[in-house]
Amino acid sequence: MAKFVKVAKLKDIPPGSRKLVEVDGFVVALFNLDGRICAIEDMCTHDGGPLAEGEIVRPGVIACPRHGAEFDICTGAALTFPAVEPARTFTVKVEKDTVYLEKPFA
Ligand code: FES
Repeated sequence: MAKFVKVAKLKDIPPGSRKLVEVDGFVVALFNLDGRICAIEDMCTHDGGPLAEGEIVRPGVIACPRHGAEFDICTGAALTFPAVEPARTFTVKVEKDTVYLEKPFA
């Protein structure tokens, strides 16, 4: 059975914002994309760049600040070179005013 871990309050991630959380040794970036919360590991699959510091270049797409690879924030798909492997994403559940991530993370 899936187990969810509380990671944030919804009010701390207003639409258009992002928040870093750490859970089980993973640094995870929570994004509020017009009300939809998505969670992606703060690590580019190209060379470990800090994805959460990147710019949102299109709706739901972030560019790594290191070499510019673009990722789908919600699916983790690597959309442009030099990244070819998807980034890790996490299943999100929002109940009332609380945001949860699904375990296991490893
Ligand atoms: S580390 Fe992200 S594109 Fe190179």
